[in-house]
Amino acid sequence: MEKTELREIYYCEVCGNVVEVLNEGAKDLTCCGQKMVKLEAKTEDATTEKHVPYIQETDKGVLVKIGQNAAHPMLEKHYIKFIEVHTTSGIFRQELNPGDAPEAEFPVKKSEILYALEWCNLHGLWKG
Ligand SMILES: [Fe+2]
Repeated sequence: MEKTELREIYYCEVCGNVVEVLNEGAKDLTCCGQKMVKLEAKTEDATTEKHVPYIQETDKGVLVKIGQNAAHPMLEKHYIKFIEVHTTSGIFRQELNPGDAPEAEFPVKKSEILYALEWCNLHGLWKG
C-alpha cells in the first residue's frame, strides 16, 4: 500500500479543506467525493508579490516574515492563513487572520530550523 508521508499537506479543490498528515496512512485521501491534491511548496517568486518565508533571528527565537521587503496582503479574500517552522523534532504553527501582520515569532533557535512554510489562500504553499 502506498502511504502518505509525515507533514504532507493535502487540499480539497471542491470545499477548500487543507489537512496535514500527523500519522502516515493510505495515500489516497478523499474529500467531497474526490481525491485531495498534495500541495507542493514553491520556493521562488517570479512576480513582485512575495510569498517565500524570510527567517530572521530575534531575542526570543525567530521572526518569520512573508516576505522579506514588501509585506504580503492580509485581506479578507487574500491572506496568509498560517506560518510554520519545521525542526527535526516537530512543527510550530501560527494561525493568522485578515488584518494581522503577515509574520509570526517562534521560540526556536534559527540553527534548529529546517525550513519555514506558509500557506496563502490564493497562491498556495511556500517554503523558505
Ligand atoms: Fe498570495
